[in-house]
Amino acid sequence: MTTAICPGSFDPVTVGHVDIIRRARKMFDHVIVAVLVNPTKNPSFSLEERIGLLKRATKEIDGLEIVGFDGLLADYARTRKATVLVKGLRAVSDFEYEFQMSLTNKKLNPELETVFLTTSAENMYLSSSIVKQIAMFGGDISDFVPACILKDIQDRLCK
Ligand code: PNS
Repeated sequence: MTTAICPGSFDPVTVGHVDIIRRARKMFDHVIVAVLVNPTKNPSFSLEERIGLLKRATKEIDGLEIVGFDGLLADYARTRKATVLVKGLRAVSDFEYEFQMSLTNKKLNPELETVFLTTSAENMYLSSSIVKQIAMFGGDISDFVPACILKDIQDRLCK
């Protein structure tokens, strides 16, 4: 059985994230969605809230585990016996940073492979920070976040 990890901040989860998680689950038996506990990032949603939103947004996908993690992803993968990281690539601009992270994770944990999935065309420009900016200025984010969590995100972010 291969365990893969989809890591991220998920602040908040977008339809782009859900697409990558769904496709990762088609490829791997067990997928851990690992939500970074990052006190330096000052997230808009607490860890518990991000996990709760993810659980609701992915409730139709079986074989998922959604958890928080702290510290190095390479170490967390080792403790969970996960051998694959699945990351979404939106554009060439993502590549350099993701390439650096992939090589670093491989150095720290040689058993760990990073698999990049190209994002679906309609999600190419999408990110949590873009969603937050649009929501903060009262724009329509209904195409960008799962319908079942839209109100929670608007209630938190819309001024
Ligand atoms: O959604 P994000 O913020 O782009 O996710 C980034 C994440 C969580 C994948 C990355 O910051 C991470 O792996 N953080 C854990 C700390 C770590 O392992 N850093 C070294 C990797 S080069």
